[in-house]
Amino acid sequence: MMNEPPDGIETRPLAQASRILQGGPVALVTTFDRGHTNVAPIAWLTPLSANPPLVGIAVERSRHSSLMIAKSEQFAINIPARPLLHHVQYLGALSGARIDKLDATQFETFEAEHVDAPLLTGCLAWVECEVQQVVPTGDHTLFVALVRAVRVDPHAFGDRWLLHGSVDDRPLHFLGDHYYATLDSELEARVPNASDAPERVLQERMLEELEQTREAQERRAEALGALEKEVEAGNIVDIGSMTARATESWMTPGGLVIPRPDELPPL
Ligand SMILES: Cc1cc2nc3c(=O)[nH]c(=O)nc-3n(C[C@H](O)[C@H](O)[C@H](O)COP(=O)(O)O)c2cc1C
Repeated sequence: MMNEPPDGIETRPLAQASRILQGGPVALVTTFDRGHTNVAPIAWLTPLSANPPLVGIAVERSRHSSLMIAKSEQFAINIPARPLLHHVQYLGALSGARIDKLDATQFETFEAEHVDAPLLTGCLAWVECEVQQVVPTGDHTLFVALVRAVRVDPHAFGDRWLLHGSVDDRPLHFLGDHYYATLDSELEARVPNASDAPERVLQERMLEELEQTREAQERRAEALGALEKEVEAGNIVDIGSMTARATESWMTPGGLVIPRPDELPPL
């Protein structure tokens, strides 16, 4: 059943699609071309293939980094944390065409294994990349690159980002403008057993999560109201059992008991 858009939602400029999609860790991308180094913050980066390991960064064509990557066919991804917050912002306001940013910041660097771009000391993780494909995408260029080496600070990254250390061990997530966030709390999702019937588990999880929110109760009441109207109009025969579900505890096919709305804890 297709519903009307929920009340209160807003239409936004198309450019905001990128704001909605971004939020992964921001990178400081370092480059080296014919004796010159450069560094620029890049938020538009994405994994593209597991085997071979490919990643992509979208760099606006006018950026000095774009030119340097196109020429050298290499770059390095450095993942900064909170101590580099202001550097990240400033480096995004300066062009390597006019200033030697690595010299200006006096960043300490160390040598990469497979690329000439320097790696930034004080970051949390480093990915060395060799460009395989250059794809024009509107006003940006997508550099598709083969991952040649990955190094991490194990205090910050085990097999995933770790949150038990200091906030300074967490990557920066770019929220837009000059706002950033760090990961805050870890939520562990349940993993289905191989023997679980996927449809049943999905239905149960859905019900369970929806029941957590007062909005869900309101939505259900609205849905029941709409169904009642359908019944009045003669389109549906009987909603007695569904009405009962809205007012009583009931059990899902998997044996999960959904409490009555007034049994739910306050939000
Ligand atoms: C947090 C942040 C994220 C950014 N992400 C991107 C990006 O994904 N792609 C891009 O082309 N520019 C991005 N920019 C802008 C460039 O970093 C900025 O234009 C920088 O000055 C380019 O430097 P360069 O000319 O030395 O390459 C970002 C800026 C900031 C502050």
